[in-house]
Order: sequence, then C-alpha cells, then structure tokens
Amino acid sequence: MSTVAKFKRIFSGIQPTGFPHLGNYLGAIRSWVKLQEQCDDVIYSVVDLHALTVPQDPLQLRDNIRNLTICLLACGVDPDKSIVFQQSKVLQHTGLYWLLSCRTPSSKLNTQTQWKTKSRTAQVGTPPLGLYSYPVLMAADILLYKASHVPVGDDQIQHLELTRDLAKSFNKLYGNVFPIPRPILGNVPRLRNLRYPDQKMSKSGEDSGRINLTDSPDIIRKKIRRSVTDSINAVTYDPASRPGISNLVETYAALQDSTVEKVCTAFSGKQTVDLKDKLVDLLVAHLIPIQRKMDQLSNDMTYVDNVLYDGCNKASNIAVVNYTEIEAVVGIS
Ligand code: TRP
Repeated sequence: MSTVAKFKRIFSGIQPTGFPHLGNYLGAIRSWVKLQEQCDDVIYSVVDLHALTVPQDPLQLRDNIRNLTICLLACGVDPDKSIVFQQSKVLQHTGLYWLLSCRTPSSKLNTQTQWKTKSRTAQVGTPPLGLYSYPVLMAADILLYKASHVPVGDDQIQHLELTRDLAKSFNKLYGNVFPIPRPILGNVPRLRNLRYPDQKMSKSGEDSGRINLTDSPDIIRKKIRRSVTDSINAVTYDPASRPGISNLVETYAALQDSTVEKVCTAFSGKQTVDLKDKLVDLLVAHLIPIQRKMDQLSNDMTYVDNVLYDGCNKASNIAVVNYTEIEAVVGIS
C-alpha cells in the first residue's frame, strides 16, 4: 500500500502564540513539511480561536498570525501541496463546535489533563468557558474536514481521544458522518528548557531557556554554551539523571535525523563542550536558510496574505460541503 493511500486526509493546527522556537520546529513543523510528501490532501490551520482561550493583545495576535504563517512557509510548508489557512476565517468551525459541544459529557472535559493544569493557573477569577471547552473546538477542526489522520504531540493525545469519542457518538446518533481520526505521533523530541532542563522548552519564560527560530548565530552560541548541564564532563543520554546533556544529545540527534545512541557513540570520549560546539554549528546551518526565507517573506506581506486568502477559500470549499451535510443530519438545514 502506498503511503498516499495510507493517509487519506491530514489535518493539524498550531496556535499563533508568540514566535515558534526550536521545540515547535522539531516537534511539529518539520513533520508537517515531511507529511506533505506522503499525502496529497493536507490541511494546516493557524488556530487563532484556540489562542484566545488565554488573554491576547489584539495587535500582537494579529502579528502573531502573520508571523506564524511566515514561519510555516519558511520552514517548508508549501501552499501548493498543503492548504494553509486561518481558523477563524472559516466560520463553520464554530458552528460544528457548538453541535459537538451539545454531545460532549462535561465529565470528559473535567478529566482533560491540560484543563486541570491550566485552570489551576488561570490569572484572574475563575477560568473561562473557552479554556474548558477548547478540546471540543479542536474536535470540530478535525471533524469538519473529515480528516483521517492528525499529527499531534503527546500533550494532545487526550484531546484526540475525545475527538474520536465524539465522532463515534455523533455517528451512532446520526449515521456514518465522520471517519474516526487517528493520530500520527512521529518520533519527536520533547525539548527541555536550556536553563532549567527539568522543564520543557516553552514560548513563555526566560528567553535564554529556548532557541528561537529567529536567533542569530551569536545568540545561539551564547545560549547553547550557557545551557545548564551537570558536573560530569561526558556525553551520555540519561534524561532522568542527566536532563541537561540528554536534551542537547536529543536536539543534536533530531537535527541530524539520527538517534541518541548514534550521537553518544560519535561523542564517546569527548567532552560536553565538544557536543555544544558541534550543536551550535548544526543549529546555525539549519536555521540560517529558514531565517533568510523568513526575511524575504516578511518583505512580501501581499504574498503571505494571499496564501492565507487562497487557503481560506480552499478550506471553506470543503467545510461548506461537510457542514451542509452535518446540518441536514442534525435536522437544522
Ligand atoms: N490544541 C492544539 C495545540 O495546542 C492545536 C490544535 C487546534 C490542533 N486544533 C487542532 C492540533 C486540530 C491538531 C488538530 O497544540
């Protein structure tokens, strides 16, 4: 069976919050680029409505939507091979969100790990409804396009499980409307914070803890050189007891499409600083072409806006047909 037949339609989304860092690139964006070659029906969404589950500055959000699009294109997402669009511009997402939310037991939302942690840390007052129901919007994103496969990080598996349950429950009530989507997990590293390797690399917090896709070679060198390792001056992989160096090994392996074992063998007998230096070279070689492309695209916003405009039209064409069918089976057409 060819891989094209294996993946009928792929859908995934990424939130326009802050600028993507190396963890986002190695964890999601790079696999999106590869999947374009393995499936001829691929849809990627800049999920701005999801970003609004936490407070956003309007001007900043507007910039973030465009900057993320630029970043996706610069990393190799090709609008001739994939549909790239802004979630909020296809109104059927929120329509289907409502229809699905009417079929979602709140007990299932109560047990979502991300809700449990995020609601505890909500800044003011009680956490908003949108944060609670966010997995239903994610289910609507996927099911609106009747996607067969969804590339996700392991933090999203629970949400995809809920999507599958909702699709099954909907099908049971209304006939076979939705295919049951499957995750594509891929072999993605979960990068750690360079300063605090016990935490994951994140868009928030101190800048020195992450490599931004826009960091200059000098900044990359500084950040990697100063990244926290431990007192053992050797390159081994043991995330539990040596999280710092293991994170660097993992980053190195991911950039080279290699394995942590091979990297450790290559650096056996060498010192931590040797790995750091080589990692800097590898990062610079990887990121410079992406940064050049980002600069070029930033100077051509008409092109970027056109990509989103075309993407919206293409996504809408699918969404309208599917949503019309859904409205009919539900009895609201
Ligand atoms: N919830 C995902 C995240 O925070 C983003 C997302 C929204 C998504 N809709 C999606 C991912 C649909 C895959 C499919 O990373």
